Amino acid sequence: MEIKVLENANNVPCEVIVVSMFEGEKTSQELANKFALEKDNFEGKFGQTYLLHTLGQSCAEKILVLGLGKRDEFCPDKLREAAAKAVKKLISIKAKNAVFDLDVEAGKQAVTGALIGNYAFDKYKTEKADRLDEVSFARFSQNDIDEAKIFGEALEFARNIANEPAQYATPSKLAELAQSFNGLETRVFERDEIEEMGMNAFLAVGRGSSQPPKFIHMKYTCANPQKKIAVIGKGICFDSGGLDIKPASSMLTMKDDMAGAACVLGVMSVLYKLNPQAEVHGIIAACENMPGDKAYKPGDILTAKNGKTIEIDNTDAEGRLTLADALCYANELGADEIIDIATLTGACCVALGSAAAGIMGNDEEFIQRLIETAGENGERLWQLPLYKEYKESLKSSVADMKNTGSRFGGASTAGVFLQEFIKDVKWAHIDIAGTAFLEKPEKEFIAGSTGAGVRTLLGYIALDREE
Ligand code: BES
Ligand code: MN
Ligand code: ZN
Repeated sequence: MEIKVLENANNVPCEVIVVSMFEGEKTSQELANKFALEKDNFEGKFGQTYLLHTLGQSCAEKILVLGLGKRDEFCPDKLREAAAKAVKKLISIKAKNAVFDLDVEAGKQAVTGALIGNYAFDKYKTEKADRLDEVSFARFSQNDIDEAKIFGEALEFARNIANEPAQYATPSKLAELAQSFNGLETRVFERDEIEEMGMNAFLAVGRGSSQPPKFIHMKYTCANPQKKIAVIGKGICFDSGGLDIKPASSMLTMKDDMAGAACVLGVMSVLYKLNPQAEVHGIIAACENMPGDKAYKPGDILTAKNGKTIEIDNTDAEGRLTLADALCYANELGADEIIDIATLTGACCVALGSAAAGIMGNDEEFIQRLIETAGENGERLWQLPLYKEYKESLKSSVADMKNTGSRFGGASTAGVFLQEFIKDVKWAHIDIAGTAFLEKPEKEFIAGSTGAGVRTLLGYIALDREE
């Protein structure tokens, strides 16, 4: 979809002009006020729309009034959701272009909402979904719109690759994509090189699959980087559970177990357009967790890159094993800050649902900054604890630790497991198991991948903030 900026919406010929209306207030269009308000008692409740044919009395063929609800309950997140609703309404009336003349601030969220609302994953459909071709925005700044477009591009990329079936989005495919991006130096390590680096935990997970594992390292840099950030995405291209195989219903969405990797790919793909003043490392240990004849087994003892040994208690707790080696790798790069993002635990889903992703880490100030950044960019993070008590259940009688512990507090138990592979660096772990993939449409999103984490990480890495 093409996005344009208009100085103002006066006398611009178009198919549809979209105007905003707070509950009980008026719109900027006299004609709409006359019909929607005076004749039809349109209330302008949040998300309600009212469509009016102008029959030649305006340069817009139609006016769409978009209800924003009560003015004192309004916020940018609501605008994003409303803008997506407006786009869906426009698509349903087969419109192809529209002018948005919304009498509010928060342009970035309006544009983001429009982009999210226009998204469909129809690559494999013979009959393609209807979409808008062009949207123009009046009243918003060029800068807000440009930023929203770049964030939208990263988001769409991440959603597309996470929505792809596992037969397409293989570790090799992720590696190929990583190598196709502008402005990055990318290296892909093959199985023998991964072995040489001592990543036996990662390798073990991938052994039951016929798809070869790929360790992907993308690097962005600039003239005077102010710091070194590493972002690591869980890249399990399919999680069958391995020999501790999942029941059919739990396996159904496991093509999406690389949503963390998809997020990192999306973020890295647009950095050259945002020019952050940092060195940014995007890292993905990509493989499939399958129960083939070479698969790792319960009871196996693995040695991770940092020398720590892990007894396999359950082969379905594979993400933390691949992340363990990736965290060691990022640590050895000398990063100042490490953020990992992963569809890691069903327990996080149980705790938070799709309303927020879980965040844990070893630096309170760092965590708070990430939580704030998420909020400013249309996402939610909720902190979960890393109390030392959670380590108890990971105790092993034959190795340094087990890969799973108690079912209770599972998101935090996974967190303290990961912490064993972190040394002297600020680290945050984001569990997106509940937010990465929706079974049914929610707010501005259709069912499927949401691109969880993309806006938070991009906001954190690339936007100027006062600290
Ligand atoms: N990929 C799953 C976690 C997951 C579950 C993501 C549901 C999205 C939706 C992960 O690898 C897994 O299987 N975790 C197990 C861990 C358990 C064996 C300790 C889980 O959460 O059940
Ligand atoms: Mn699993
Ligand atoms: Zn998994």
